[in-house]
Amino acid sequence: MTEAAHLTTTRESYDSIAAVYAERVVPPAELDPVSRAMLAAFAELVRGAGGRPVADVGCGPGRVTAHLTALGLSAFGVDLSPNMVRLASEAYPELRFREASMDALDVPDNALGGMLAWYSTHHTPPELLPAVFAEFHRTLGPGGFLLWGDYTGDTHLRPTHAFGQPVSYESYHLPLDRTIELLRQAGFLVTTRVEQEPNERVHRTHGCLLAHKADTF
Ligand SMILES: C[S@@+](CC[C@H](N)C(=O)[O-])C[C@H]1O[C@@H](n2cnc3c(N)ncnc32)[C@H](O)[C@@H]1O
Repeated sequence: MTEAAHLTTTRESYDSIAAVYAERVVPPAELDPVSRAMLAAFAELVRGAGGRPVADVGCGPGRVTAHLTALGLSAFGVDLSPNMVRLASEAYPELRFREASMDALDVPDNALGGMLAWYSTHHTPPELLPAVFAEFHRTLGPGGFLLWGDYTGDTHLRPTHAFGQPVSYESYHLPLDRTIELLRQAGFLVTTRVEQEPNERVHRTHGCLLAHKADTF
């Protein structure tokens, strides 16, 4: 079957910027306090619900996967880009990273206690997000938690370069209400929403949502 075009461009782009990305993007310990608090709240909720495995989808160089591990979670990383998976595996040989697309995870139904999508869904065209959120819902067990963080807005960007390298991916920033609506349509209960204005570290509006899969599903 032919792969969707955005997966090819996203994989190729992150393969070429992976090394520079890993060098330049701030480690989780340097994230803004609100983002760190949301990651900590997510970890506490997943641990409290039994500590089942957590997938960090679009894990990039694995720093947030390692941060979740340090917060007591049994986390593994998944990324579309082989170079990102290689860098993550080299940096954190004790953790598991694998190559896959977040809309086709090699994970059984109801297997996970948590799912983190941290700045990783914005390369998916909005009309294809329902399939991604359906995959999150399928793989999370009853009561499992989803933490989603990403840029917000109402823009479609087609950058030609990132980190000094040519890229062909596109980025879609949606209003937070739209993402909430899509998560609800996928069967999630969205319990917490946070939106931050641009600041000295992140030059765009960005948001974070905490949701869970109802026990009764
Ligand atoms: C902006 S980076 C964020 C990386 C990491 N979450 C972090 O916070 O450092 C986006 C990552 O998502 C990955 N990605 C984008 N679309 C994906 C998809 N459909 N499936 C899996 N990974 C994807 C990219 O390869 C890239 O590593």
